[in-house]
Amino acid sequence: MPLLPAKPRIRESFERAATSYDGAAALQRQVGERLLADFAADAAPSDLVDAGCGTGHGARLLRARWPQLHVTAIDFATTMLAIAQNDADACLAADIEALPCRDECFAAWWSNLTVQWCDIGQVLGEARRVLRPGGQLALSTLGPDTFRELRDAFSGVDGHRHTLTFSEPQLIGEALQRAGFVDIRLQRQTIKLHYPDLKTLLRAVKEIGANSVGEGVRSGLLGRSAWQRVQAAYEQYRTPAGLPARYDVILAYAKK
Ligand SMILES: C[S@@+](CC[C@H](N)C(=O)[O-])C[C@H]1O[C@@H](n2cnc3c(N)ncnc32)[C@H](O)[C@@H]1O
Repeated sequence: MPLLPAKPRIRESFERAATSYDGAAALQRQVGERLLADFAADAAPSDLVDAGCGTGHGARLLRARWPQLHVTAIDFATTMLAIAQNDADACLAADIEALPCRDECFAAWWSNLTVQWCDIGQVLGEARRVLRPGGQLALSTLGPDTFRELRDAFSGVDGHRHTLTFSEPQLIGEALQRAGFVDIRLQRQTIKLHYPDLKTLLRAVKEIGANSVGEGVRSGLLGRSAWQRVQAAYEQYRTPAGLPARYDVILAYAKK
């Protein structure tokens, strides 16, 4: 299992990020649309749980496709939920590793860019428990090539790891199998977003609440000369569009 920051710290970061989240969540919106593209090939579900809903982007996206869909939005950050309640039919402040829901109460379970912050085995066990037989699962998460340029830029500067560790797609597939899911389909796609400079890139990561990804990266925490070396190392990746941030996106679909 990947190394994760302590759960209260993850929750606090997201609690603080609710107001800046929508302005900075370009990746989450793109990945949500890609996740829906193949999920939509299945029959329309009557009701769905959005696990780690953030500000409710999933509810907006899914209801645009299926206007009759009943969406239960779940997140442990109450400030995120306060915004999500404008779009969801029901909201629950809860940990998706321990859902306060009855067995077999949802037709579909959806989670966009959240399980990389969790114990995937726990999350999938709970997803399977709350799904009705034949229920559909769709999740997106990040693979190990995510932030490759950032890691490379740091590699010559110090020995610390400055990003979360992310799971290989194969591990996601195995975790789905272990949880008892069938008809598992996995996809892997690379998305690159571009920023004018490294500070802006790191600020965007912070504004969605993923602070611990850039832990120790902010110029204030590094010595001045180390920060300048990181910036110079990152500059070698510059393209006409700006400095790239790579996201190794994994999409997974399965049935109970
Ligand atoms: C990167 S955001 C993604 C939000 C949303 N799915 C979207 O597509 O915009 C991750 C969200 O997952 C929530 N989260 C992370 N771990 C969680 C957990 N164990 N239980 C409940 N929510 C969690 C965070 O509070 C945050 O709102």
